[in-house]
Amino acid sequence: MAKATTLSVQAHMIPEGAPARMMRMTDIVSAITYALDLTEGQPPGHCLRCCAIGLAIGKAVGLTQSCLSNLYYTLLLKDAGCSSNAGRLWELYGGDDREIKHDFKTMDSQSITQMARFILRHAGPGEALKQRLKRVLNITYRGREFATELVRSRCERGADIARQCGFNNAIAFAIQSLDEHWNGNGRPEGLQGVAIPIEARIALLAQVADVFHSVGGPDKALKEIQGRAGTWFDPELVAAFTVLAKHADFWQPLTSQNVEDYVRRLEPETHVVFIDEDRLDTVANAFAQVVDAKSTFTFGHSHRVASYADAIAFHKGLAPIKRRWLRRAALLHDVGKLGVSNSILDKPGRLTEREWAAVRRHARLSEDIIGRIAALADIAAIAGAHHERLDGKGYPRGLSGDAILLETRIITVADIFDALTATRPYRDAMPLQKALDIMTAMQGTAIDESCLAALEAALDEGTISQHLKKE
Ligand SMILES: [Fe+2]
Ligand SMILES: [Fe+2]
Repeated sequence: MAKATTLSVQAHMIPEGAPARMMRMTDIVSAITYALDLTEGQPPGHCLRCCAIGLAIGKAVGLTQSCLSNLYYTLLLKDAGCSSNAGRLWELYGGDDREIKHDFKTMDSQSITQMARFILRHAGPGEALKQRLKRVLNITYRGREFATELVRSRCERGADIARQCGFNNAIAFAIQSLDEHWNGNGRPEGLQGVAIPIEARIALLAQVADVFHSVGGPDKALKEIQGRAGTWFDPELVAAFTVLAKHADFWQPLTSQNVEDYVRRLEPETHVVFIDEDRLDTVANAFAQVVDAKSTFTFGHSHRVASYADAIAFHKGLAPIKRRWLRRAALLHDVGKLGVSNSILDKPGRLTEREWAAVRRHARLSEDIIGRIAALADIAAIAGAHHERLDGKGYPRGLSGDAILLETRIITVADIFDALTATRPYRDAMPLQKALDIMTAMQGTAIDESCLAALEAALDEGTISQHLKKE
C-alpha cells in the first residue's frame, strides 16, 4: 500500500483494520476536474491532461517526491477559481464566457496584434455597432486593469478553494501564481523568474501545451511552447518539454479514453493523500462555493439549500448518516451550472427556447459530474433529479410520483424555497409568508406536501429563519 503523508491535506494513514471509508483524494478531485473544464470552455479531460504533461516535466527536471505531490494537486486544481470571474467576463464582453475563456487560451496575450483581434472578435457579439464600439473602447483602454482584476479574482479564489480542501500553502500559492510569466509580464503580481513557484511555472506550460495540442497536435504544441521560452516560460522547462514532446509515447496517454485512470496512477506513490468522511464534507463544501461563485444570482445558494434540506430531513426523521449524505447531494445539486454560460445564467431579459434548453441541461450535467466521483456516485441521481415534479412536468427525465425519491423531494423543496426567498440582484428577497403561500399552491403538483410541512416545522422552530425576510 502506498504511504500517506501529512504534506498536503491533513492526510490520514489508513490504520490497520480501519473501516472501508477512507478515500483517495485524487479519486474525488480528478473526477471533479471535468466540472472545471466545462467552466473554462475546455474539451473534457483538460485538467487531467495538464496533470499528465506537468508531472512528466516535473520528473524530467528532477523534482523531489514531495514537490511532485504539490505539483500533482496544483495541476488538478489549477482552475478551481475559474467560476469566480465568469460573470465579470460576460459583463465586460457581453458574450459567452466559456467561448471567451477557450479562445483566450489559444492566443498570446502579450501580443498586441493578437489581443486586438481577440477583442474585436469577442466584444458585444450580436449587439448594435454603437454598443460594440463602446465595449471595444472600454476593454482596450482599461485592458490591463481588467485583465489583472480577472486573473486576480480567479487565482486568489482558486488558492482559497485549495486551502479549504485542506491543501498546503505551497499548492495554494502555486495556484495563485498560475498566470505569472517568466519575464515578469504576467499577473496578478508580476512575479519574475524563480520567484514564481516551480509548480506554477510547470502548470502554465502544461496548460498551454494541452490547449495547443488539442487544437493542432504535438507540433503545434511544441512550436507554441518554444516560441514563448524566456517570455512566458522558464527556458529550462521548455528544454525539458522539448525532449519529452518528441516522443510519441509522451502524447499517447493524453488521447486515451482512460486518461482519468492514468492520471490517478501518477500520484507520487510515497505521498498518496487519503481523506476521511469529514474531509469529504469539506471538499463538497468547497466545490459548492465554486458553483455558487459562477453567478451573482446564485451567491450562497448551494449552502442555503444544503442547510434547508438538512432541516427538512431532520423533521422527516432521517438518520444522521442519511442526512450527511443528503447534505452533500444538496451542496452539489447545481454543479452542472458550471457548464452553462453566464450569458444565459445572468441574462436580464427573457430566455429564448435554446437558452432554456441550455439551462435545463444543468440537471443532467450535475448527475454526470457527481456520478464520476465513486465516493458520491450514490447521490448522483438524487441530486440530478432536483427539477423533477410530482406531476411529471419537470426535467431532465420527466419523472413523476413515486419515481421521485424522498431525498430528491427534500432537495427540491429546499431549492425552490431558496430561489423564492434569497435576495437577487434584480429583486429584493420575497417575504417569508408570500414564499410559503406560493409553495403551498405547488403542493401535489410540483412539490411534496410532507416535505413542505417539515420545512414549515423547521421555520417555526427558528433554526433556519434568521436571515429570511419576515414582512
Ligand atoms: Fe438547479
Ligand atoms: Fe438550485
